[in-house]
Amino acid sequence: TGCFTYDPGFGATASCKSAITYIDGDAGVLLYRGYPIEQLAEKSSFTEVAYLLMHGDLPNAQQLEGFEHEVTHHTMMHEAFRTFLYGFRHDAHPMAMLVGMLGSMASFYHNDLDLEDPAQRRLAAIRLIAKVPTIAAACHRYSIGWPIRYPRNNLEYTTRFLHMMKEVPSEPLELNPVAAKALDLLFILHADHEQNASTSTVRLVGSTGANPYVSVAAGVAALWGPAHGGANEAVLKMLEEIGRPESVQSAVDKAKDKESGFRLMGFGHRVYKNFDPRAKIIREMTYKVLGELGVNDPLLDVAMKLEEAALKDDYFVQRKLYPNVDFYSGIIYKALGIPVEMFTVMFAIARTAGWVSHWLEQQEDPENRIGRPRQIYTGSAQRDYVAMGQR
Ligand code: CMC
Repeated sequence: TGCFTYDPGFGATASCKSAITYIDGDAGVLLYRGYPIEQLAEKSSFTEVAYLLMHGDLPNAQQLEGFEHEVTHHTMMHEAFRTFLYGFRHDAHPMAMLVGMLGSMASFYHNDLDLEDPAQRRLAAIRLIAKVPTIAAACHRYSIGWPIRYPRNNLEYTTRFLHMMKEVPSEPLELNPVAAKALDLLFILHADHEQNASTSTVRLVGSTGANPYVSVAAGVAALWGPAHGGANEAVLKMLEEIGRPESVQSAVDKAKDKESGFRLMGFGHRVYKNFDPRAKIIREMTYKVLGELGVNDPLLDVAMKLEEAALKDDYFVQRKLYPNVDFYSGIIYKALGIPVEMFTVMFAIARTAGWVSHWLEQQEDPENRIGRPRQIYTGSAQRDYVAMGQR
């Protein structure tokens, strides 16, 4: 059988060294390049955080301006992307389209695939950060039959995305500063989370020398699952199914029953055995945003009741299952008028900053070697081929 460590789900395996993000799951601590997530959430912006993740330090004013200029310069998609996009089924899930569209970037930008050249690697990373919102918005507009909108490059990153995505140009929610600020904050909180399933996927693909576009496309695929980024969509659907505070207890009971196959979406985390620090920030922001936008969402009552019921239930307490980042984000996205099937796409836009930073770090790592786990073989012992007539 060989002498390997059996570690299903890699709960005890460090697959790389990284200087990007630090998590102390027991204490509920999250740092990007050493900076606490709480301080970044309060004081920073998504583009500044993207710079920080990519470069290792906060930018000065000139560096930030230069970075924003570079990103803005690359927001347009090649026109042929449209033909590609129009080939999808009209009602395809935007995550399905995003996986395909990002993979196809390798075919549009194959000139800069000299992975030995740091300048070309950086250009590819900037292109991804710049184009993912344009592509994401185009996927959404295609799925609802609206014409695709070009990026308006006099707007900043988050507002530009909202402008491209939203349907109503006359009363632009995208220009509502509360909405733009809330979305920017959500992007900051989702920007990186060390070796989560999607980032590990990007690194595994990247370890083979494959290009960054397909590496990130693979990350998007991993993010889609409901155990990972797909949880934000699943949370909202679950809250809608629960429907009213009185039904919360039966949902909690169902989640405790292993036979049911049902889990409380937005609860639990592989690393955090304490409150997810991102969930704490989002929880507070949810009330603020709903208040400021004048939205009265009954699902928030359901969410509150669910959180309360789970936090005092022995099953959840013993297993240290706390609300995670995805528990509240859907309620804010909903308040911002973002359709539910776009929730995981929002996560992908933000996480692109983390994915490309990890990919860049990996390419410079002298210890990088192809990711190639072993297995514990459980199949048949060697046996002889049996002729068809004798089976
Ligand atoms: N509801 C009910 N029971 C749960 C839940 C839940 N949400 N999460 C974990 N458990 C139980 C699980 O059944 C197991 O019980 P036992 O020890 O009796 O067998 C125990 O808690 C440990 O769970 P696990 O599945 O071994 O934990 P894991 O580290 O493999 O999985 C997780 C972590 C996040 C996938 C899991 O907690 C889960 O499925 N949560 C719901 C989905 C979700 O919210 N995902 C978003 C994660 S955070 C953001 C992101 O990554 O995108």
